[in-house]
Amino acid sequence: MKKYIIAITGASGSIYAVKLIEELLKNGYSIHLVVSDNGAKVLEYETGIKLLNFIEDMKEKYGNITLEDVDNLFSSVASGSFKTDGMIILPCSMSSLGEIAHGVSKNLIGRAADVCIKEKRPLVIVPRETPLSSIHLKNMLILSESGVTILPAMPGFYHKPENLEDVINFVVGKILDTLSIENNLFKKWGN
Ligand SMILES: Cc1cc2nc3c(=O)[nH]c(=O)nc-3n(C[C@H](O)[C@H](O)[C@H](O)COP(=O)(O)O)c2cc1C
Repeated sequence: MKKYIIAITGASGSIYAVKLIEELLKNGYSIHLVVSDNGAKVLEYETGIKLLNFIEDMKEKYGNITLEDVDNLFSSVASGSFKTDGMIILPCSMSSLGEIAHGVSKNLIGRAADVCIKEKRPLVIVPRETPLSSIHLKNMLILSESGVTILPAMPGFYHKPENLEDVINFVVGKILDTLSIENNLFKKWGN
């Protein structure tokens, strides 16, 4: 069974992660979820979803999701010897992105990302900030040059979204495409 680490940080847009998690679980993937303190707060503020209730709901419907303690560096996902198929940080704050770009792994998000980079496993970072400073852009370049996929939460409009769900599905579909995971979340150009 394929296994992904998903991290939610305190940037705006955790609704994307809610959709990605459900989509992966529905398709039989297993997930280790790490959420920063502000990630949980922003999730509740923006969506009204309480993290623990969401996890319970997902466990009941699909199973195969483990909530990791963001401060537990003894977690399995902190070690390269624990094999995963990669990691998605969604949404990624400029703070977490900066830490990862500079090899800082004070919490489990930074450490698990560092492991993916050193083990050359897929790492998809979905930054959310605007406008972007030179510091943000340089940090993204460092990560891109280290093999990380920088996939900004930048919905397109050429698929003619009719509602918010279509906009969310576009970004989540792009993440799944990057990981070569079949999906029909948005109409592909030319189809
Ligand atoms: C409602 C809200 C929205 C935020 N949105 C963003 C954002 O889109 N991008 C960003 O980089 N930081 C954003 N922040 C700031 C981060 O949450 C803050 O920098 C935090 O320290 C990030 O830490 P973390 O990466 O450990 O979650 C937001 C904060 C709040 C309260």
